Amino acid sequence: MTLDAIYDAPLTQEFGTVKPVFLDLSTDVRQRSVTALNRLLAHAMAMRDLYKKAHWQISGPSFYALHLLFDKHYQEQLALIDQLAERVQTLGGVALALAQDVVDESRIAHAPRGREAPEQQLQRLVGCHALVLREARALARRADEAGDDGTADLIIGSLVRTYELQSWFVGEHLTTFDVPALQRNAPIAGEAPARENGQPAAH
Ligand SMILES: [Fe+2]
Repeated sequence: MTLDAIYDAPLTQEFGTVKPVFLDLSTDVRQRSVTALNRLLAHAMAMRDLYKKAHWQISGPSFYALHLLFDKHYQEQLALIDQLAERVQTLGGVALALAQDVVDESRIAHAPRGREAPEQQLQRLVGCHALVLREARALARRADEAGDDGTADLIIGSLVRTYELQSWFVGEHLTTFDVPALQRNAPIAGEAPARENGQPAAH
């Protein structure tokens, strides 16, 4: 079989669809959870790459400590990504996987190729964690309200807890608290913008 023939072969499942599963969750609930999880998966894959970039490009007096810390956080993204992707498949969906999908879905992937100063690297990382945390908490609440406890538990127990801890470890290296807020991602189709502390999100 040629490569062209492989590319032309019919798909077994289109991206964006959910197939029947045996979880006693409606198609609509699973569809919404899959969309939410794929958004968070894209963010986590972008965070994975951002941490590796920081691991390679860090400089300055804290080089060695940060070089090691960033690789630790990179490894933790790998575990998180696998959990999110396999939850998508568990719900009958199709998980995002490739770089182009991440670029389309997460603005975190849109960082400069060049080398930033250490303070900028740290600010970017805590800013990106905050962006994901804002979306993740809102999406977990929606999954919980829809009865998809497993998805809500995964988002809070794995992603939110991990990112809060990583933000602490990175943020303690900052010399200023004046971290510019990152512009948020576009809302997920069919979802209201993420809310922070019960208030509508500012634009
Ligand atoms: Fe390395």
